[in-house]
Amino acid sequence: MSGLKLIGTGGALPAREVTNGELTRRVDTSDEWIVSRTGIRSRRWCSPGESHTALCLTAARQAMERAGVGPEEVGACLVATFTGDRMTPGTSVALQGLLGLPEDTVCFDLNAACAGFLYAVHTASRLLPVNGRRYGLVLGAEVLTRVTDLDDRSTCVLFGDGAGAAVVEWGEDFPDLCAVMGCRARPETLCVPGVGTGEASVIRMDGQAVFRFAVEALPRCVTQVLDRAGLRPEEVDRFVFHQANQRIIDLAVRKLRLPPERCAGNIARTGNTSAASVPLLLNELAERGKLRPGQRALCVGFGAGLTWAGALLELGIRS
Ligand code: UT7
Repeated sequence: MSGLKLIGTGGALPAREVTNGELTRRVDTSDEWIVSRTGIRSRRWCSPGESHTALCLTAARQAMERAGVGPEEVGACLVATFTGDRMTPGTSVALQGLLGLPEDTVCFDLNAACAGFLYAVHTASRLLPVNGRRYGLVLGAEVLTRVTDLDDRSTCVLFGDGAGAAVVEWGEDFPDLCAVMGCRARPETLCVPGVGTGEASVIRMDGQAVFRFAVEALPRCVTQVLDRAGLRPEEVDRFVFHQANQRIIDLAVRKLRLPPERCAGNIARTGNTSAASVPLLLNELAERGKLRPGQRALCVGFGAGLTWAGALLELGIRS
């Protein structure tokens, strides 16, 4: 048995807060509609001077400092995203230089949409024993405003920008992640067309189809991770779910009869930040002293593709 511990977190949000009120002046919507359908009250949007790389750098530095891990100790740096500053090389490669990571640190970006951070955590758990260094830097980061039609009321109210970072430690005797991952090819439900298609590279979503998928996938991932771990829900200290829609989370919490106080979210202030959503929430919980050493957090992400992932993170937060 080998696995990971989460030992440090960091986060970065753009300075500009966009409230529902501001959006009512841009598109035909209302605060009442947005709050009642999604739970979102405001989100952060990048301004021209802010970049994906800069958000990631801030989050990564914070996570490394809190974990007490120096650049020379990092064996893998993975960034889950589909909205990096360049098509290639990835933000992870920029971080190698900016953070001074050794050149044999495995650095790449990966795209599994809103499930991406957990795909990256799982990948790090497999890469670190090969690389030989114990610590991995895993980020989820998005500048979704780059791929959102800001005049389309059905999507612009939902999405926000941000970056979350985690330092994980690999150990031979650490518990397994009990990770579950999967995908189903349904791009018509949620996708961003690429440059070769001739279509605008903006988020296209059949909201109701994604909603139906999410209310099935989220509880299924929780149950599968619990089964793999041989745990009951009451043995998990925190449930950290992708912040796509408060209604999706509330339905899952009710269906699984999870204690709501262990399922706290931040969607009201961040909106849906895709791959950044789970690590940003982990960071917020850590900052509020809600992730204590020896506890366990069960995390789930789901989204475009369709993709999904769940994992159990052992917590060894150092500060
Ligand atoms: O990261 C993972 C991916 N994303 C998700 O998980 C999203 C999943 N889906 C959802 O969260 C919900 O489907 C939405 C929040 C996107 C939409 O909520 P809904 O209750 O499914 O609304 P709807 O799409 O059925 O639209 C209902 C009405 C429509 O008007 P008509 O046709 O009934 O006259 C829409 O045109 O609401 C209208 N509408 C809006 N009205 C005011 C759509 N967007 C807005 C808006 N403000 N921003």
